[in-house]
Amino acid sequence: MNSTTAMAPYEVLGGEAGIKRLVHRFYELMDELPEAYGVRQMHPATLDGSGQSLFEFLSGWLGGPPLYMEKKGHPRLRMRHAPYAVSQTMRDEWMLCMTQAITEQVPDAAFQSWLIGTFTQMADHMVNTDSSQDCQHGMSTAANIGSSA
Ligand code: HEM
Repeated sequence: MNSTTAMAPYEVLGGEAGIKRLVHRFYELMDELPEAYGVRQMHPATLDGSGQSLFEFLSGWLGGPPLYMEKKGHPRLRMRHAPYAVSQTMRDEWMLCMTQAITEQVPDAAFQSWLIGTFTQMADHMVNTDSSQDCQHGMSTAANIGSSA
């Protein structure tokens, strides 16, 4: 990160406005990309609440004001994702949107790859189910009858 090493990632990203911009683009991509359809389906019809929660979490996580903690207590994100079937496929779709949003908005190559790496670790940590659980409805064929029982 060269000259920016002394700054918190929060500052490097542009503080509140920069994080809001990233989150906005991330959910816009989730809404628009056909490749993110599966992960979009897991979310509520309107993404405003999801965007606000992610913004508040990222604010503290990246070294700025701990807005999420102040409102909801310790994030315990893996536990909060437990009600959702986060498979490797869902993780990949989530990361596709986040990687594109970061690539578009972060000009510094070193900071860009640091951010993608950090989000990747967190996304890996959220995986809580096997991809074979994805979209099984309506797919009872000879191939999976019995094998998933
Ligand atoms: C790996 C793939 C992931 C999937 C499929 C996923 C999916 C979801 C879903 C379905 C929700 C509930 C919708 C909502 O609250 O509006 C949610 C909430 C949330 N996610 Fe994720 N997520 C993933 C990764 C991440 C990562 C990597 C982060 C942080 C860097 C994150 C941060 C959050 C936060 C802060 C909330 C709100 C939690 C709450 O207050 O209840 N998620 N996620």
